[in-house]
Amino acid sequence: MSATPRIPVPHSLEAPLPMTLPRVAEKKRLGEPIVMVTAYDYPSAQVAEEAGVDVVLVGDSGAMTVLGYPSTVPVSTEEMLMLAAAVRRGLDNPLLVGDLPFGSYEASDALAIATAQRFVKEAGCDAVKLERGGTSVQRARAIVDAGIPVMGHVGLTPQTATALGGYRAQGRTAERALGVVRDAVALQEAGCFSIVLEAIPAAVSELVQERLEIPSIGIGAGPATDGQVLVFHDLLGIYHGHTPRFAKRYAEIRARMLTGVAEYASEVRSGAFPAPEHTYSIDDDQLARLREGLKATG
Ligand code: KIV
Repeated sequence: MSATPRIPVPHSLEAPLPMTLPRVAEKKRLGEPIVMVTAYDYPSAQVAEEAGVDVVLVGDSGAMTVLGYPSTVPVSTEEMLMLAAAVRRGLDNPLLVGDLPFGSYEASDALAIATAQRFVKEAGCDAVKLERGGTSVQRARAIVDAGIPVMGHVGLTPQTATALGGYRAQGRTAERALGVVRDAVALQEAGCFSIVLEAIPAAVSELVQERLEIPSIGIGAGPATDGQVLVFHDLLGIYHGHTPRFAKRYAEIRARMLTGVAEYASEVRSGAFPAPEHTYSIDDDQLARLREGLKATG
């Protein structure tokens, strides 16, 4: 029997494989950058999916970008679960990580496990993320022991930004940088599968990187990390509020949205919309019968 020649499948036609924890670890081992983005609803999840990102985070940044809170602090677990469930419905392949909101995990291991379980059971998340070192290290360990993968987050941790002196780069003194390195290593030892490094000097992130066996994902942490994450609304120019210097803009979608809605408003006011092609018709004989019927019924 002659062997059938194997026709190479173009990359774009290959069915993408679902992202798993071993595949994330493998990417680090192979030196393949890990692409992570936030998403907060069904369409943003579909965009992330089609763009081929590896990891999608339902970040508590959604508190500000889609729910309009002044910070990430007020968002509730219920609100985050609703966003995460919508993202789940738009996503097949990327790993889905849900951000545990402020106040939903700090008080005890039992609370941390119960909240993490809700993200998995009710919203279909593959993993959860929590912020800070310190007591969060023990909470991370407890969640991991309960069978749920955890992503850590050190450096600028927005949930506790007030205590850090505001939304500013962290680890800019030797003492503070040592704290960041120690937190990252402690989270690794607690069993986290990955760690976000936010807003720290690139040189500090290199030192963290040397001490991590698990993948690091940077946001404002320079090029040394194993992957990068950006907030969906920052990278597409949808969010109107403050954008940090590390958030590169790849589009100006808000300006396009504004133009579209303003044009619609103007066409409604001028009568240009709706046009015949946006309008349904009825056969003349049916319309005549309707008129007769209306006359008969008064
Ligand atoms: O909430 C979020 O979007 C985040 C990312 C910035 C990592 O935590």
